[in-house]
Amino acid sequence: MSQRVCVSDFEEQARKVLPKTVYDYYRSGADEQRTLHDNVEAFNRWCLLPRVLRDVSSVDMSLSVLGQRLSMPVCVASTAMQRMAHADGEVATARACRAVGTAMMLSSWATSTIEEVSEAGGGPGGVLWMQLYIYKDRELSLSLVRRAEQAGYQAIFLTVDTPYLGRRWDDMRNRFKLPSHLSMSNFLAPSLSFSEGSYGADSGLAVYVSKAIDPSLSWEDVLWLKRNTHLPVILKGVLSEEDARKAVDCGVDGILVSNHGARQLDGVPATLDVLSEVVRAVGGRCDIFLDGGIRRGTDILKALALGAKAVFVGRPVLWGLACGGEEGVTELLNLLKEELRLAMALAGCRSLSEVSRALVRRREDFSRL
Ligand code: LAC
Repeated sequence: MSQRVCVSDFEEQARKVLPKTVYDYYRSGADEQRTLHDNVEAFNRWCLLPRVLRDVSSVDMSLSVLGQRLSMPVCVASTAMQRMAHADGEVATARACRAVGTAMMLSSWATSTIEEVSEAGGGPGGVLWMQLYIYKDRELSLSLVRRAEQAGYQAIFLTVDTPYLGRRWDDMRNRFKLPSHLSMSNFLAPSLSFSEGSYGADSGLAVYVSKAIDPSLSWEDVLWLKRNTHLPVILKGVLSEEDARKAVDCGVDGILVSNHGARQLDGVPATLDVLSEVVRAVGGRCDIFLDGGIRRGTDILKALALGAKAVFVGRPVLWGLACGGEEGVTELLNLLKEELRLAMALAGCRSLSEVSRALVRRREDFSRL
């Protein structure tokens, strides 16, 4: 195995070991994947303006997020069905997160149960958050919340951008479904665990979503969820100023600026491009996070400079998992941590409080100077 020095090395190796349908599912964006490319490209539209001569012999990346202490402002995003990437799936990811000192957001559609993951990665030093879909059967969604509360999860990330599944062409061509030995383990009924049944000549997951997930999801459901849990509620999938303001009015505890890894509505802006607007609209009334397109430490630094409290990484974690289970994810997270530490040091930032808007400038602004 050759040495892995950057996230794309992990992806390259993962592509070689994963079955094509699995790699396609994880990698794909919706439709023509314009937003998929743009999420990554957006980081190149911003330049870093480093400060020098600041004694960067020690750099502190630690912070508190949603009341939890983390070693770095990089958390693991929910990605579904991780046992397709490695036999240990979400359990391995949870262990790796705890080892590195960061938080894991567990997908409702995990191939490990809420309780298994909590046993593996909860307890002292382990920070677990739960991603939630609103099912047509509200009691079912609520039962996931209750289980998460009981198992020690410390926040709920409500996905708000998936009333239907986006069209992912590879999954449609591959008629994507779970391999027969796996299921969405949080559900007992086969119709809900995506483990059997006919999904037709389509992406099986798109069929599953249209059967189970409630497209009537509205702001009322956000208020309903707030009323029904004492855990912080973060909206995952907000892109506009208006929605950000509404979210704050509903009393949410955080906003995750996300376009679902560009897997839902193609043609929406890159998350980095809307971050500043959302930050301005919210005006400090709740924490703002970002995911989408983060592939290196300098990307993380740019997102923080533009106002994200912390960022989430999804696909890179899956590549780490595919390359080596728990060890692979640990290596991947430590790589990002080291890249961020170096980026902060070279930019003259000794702690996160020194990362400010003054650190970044739009590339085109230089030509006007
Ligand atoms: C997806 C869902 C499961 O993007 O989040 O495939």
